[in-house]
Amino acid sequence: MKAENMIEVEDLFLRFYRDEGVIKPLNGVSFQIPTGKSIGVVGESGCGKTMTAYSLLRILPRGGEIVRGALRFRRKNGEIVDLAQMDPDGKTIKQIRGGEIAMIFQEPMTAFSPVHTLYNQISEVLRIHSDMDEHAIRKRVVELLGQVGIPEPEQRADAYPFEFSGGMRQRAMIAMALASNPRLLIADEPTTALDVTVQAQVLRLIKEIQGRFNLSLMLITHDLGVVAHMVDYVYVMYMGEVVEAAPVAELFANPQHPYTIDLLHSIPKMTGPKEALAHIKGTVPHGAALPPGCMFHPRCRKRVGETCWTREPGMTDLGNEHYVRCFIHSNAVTDISREAEEITHA
Ligand SMILES: Nc1ncnc2c1ncn2[C@@H]1O[C@H](COP(=O)(O)OP(=O)(O)OP(=O)(O)O)[C@@H](O)[C@H]1O
Ligand SMILES: [Mg+2]
Repeated sequence: MKAENMIEVEDLFLRFYRDEGVIKPLNGVSFQIPTGKSIGVVGESGCGKTMTAYSLLRILPRGGEIVRGALRFRRKNGEIVDLAQMDPDGKTIKQIRGGEIAMIFQEPMTAFSPVHTLYNQISEVLRIHSDMDEHAIRKRVVELLGQVGIPEPEQRADAYPFEFSGGMRQRAMIAMALASNPRLLIADEPTTALDVTVQAQVLRLIKEIQGRFNLSLMLITHDLGVVAHMVDYVYVMYMGEVVEAAPVAELFANPQHPYTIDLLHSIPKMTGPKEALAHIKGTVPHGAALPPGCMFHPRCRKRVGETCWTREPGMTDLGNEHYVRCFIHSNAVTDISREAEEITHA
């Protein structure tokens, strides 16, 4: 593992074995997050963003199996562990989950219990992940709520989640995520449930907190517009695979994958009506039947020929930390074929 990295994900394959057939949400996902840096993971609905995050925390829905790949994580004590090899109910992952890797979910009402006060819920994190006494915990929770911009935190701490507005609830969830001083923060569509002005405030807060506490941040969104001012580096995902990766400015200035180019064209304009992905024809094929060759080829407007549907493209290094998985740039094929993966796990 490289010294600068907090986490390295390599060739992650996720399968659901169901009576109806095998669902294939992740097909060789690889990415890294350097310590104190932020990455964006972008792609349309169903491309596997949330399943990637759930794999890291080992909170996959029932039946979800990591069948291949490594999830190397640098722990607070310096130890490097492979999260993919851990018992999902074991002691170590329970320390890491919430203690070292925290997650902010799309809809705060699903993260908070409606029948307990915010104080009860945030303080619980500290009871699990620290050895503070009750007095110190109270002080810390109030401090956290203040840090995320909740006014009168001493009083508001004892409110119930439903007594907060959507934006304030999202701030409270950020406070809960920060409670145990995590090293890696995963924010999965943290603002899509909020209206536009509140979205901007919450994104600013996440960015500010990431910088202030030197967190590694994984920001998940279907909207490339959201990552523009938020992250250092972007991974574009399609059908459980990274198809392009680049520093954020480079990706916007010089997108190379036909899918990324289409995604950029479909960023909602502030002036016009919201028409997500209007420029990409078709929809994401269902994860049970992966297209052969390049998985984007059925929707691609720049196919170069038969290669596109007979061979699986590998990542081409374009320089400047820019990588693309497309036969327009080279004939490189992938090292780990999806076919081979199927055979080993048949
Ligand atoms: N509980 C489940 N059982 C079986 N397959 C699932 C389950 N949840 C998700 N999947 C599969 O995983 C794929 C990826 O889902 P995921 O939730 O990671 O998408 P996403 O990129 O987060 O999309 P969105 O932008 O809508 O949140 C889905 O297309 C589906 O095939
Ligand atoms: Mg999702």
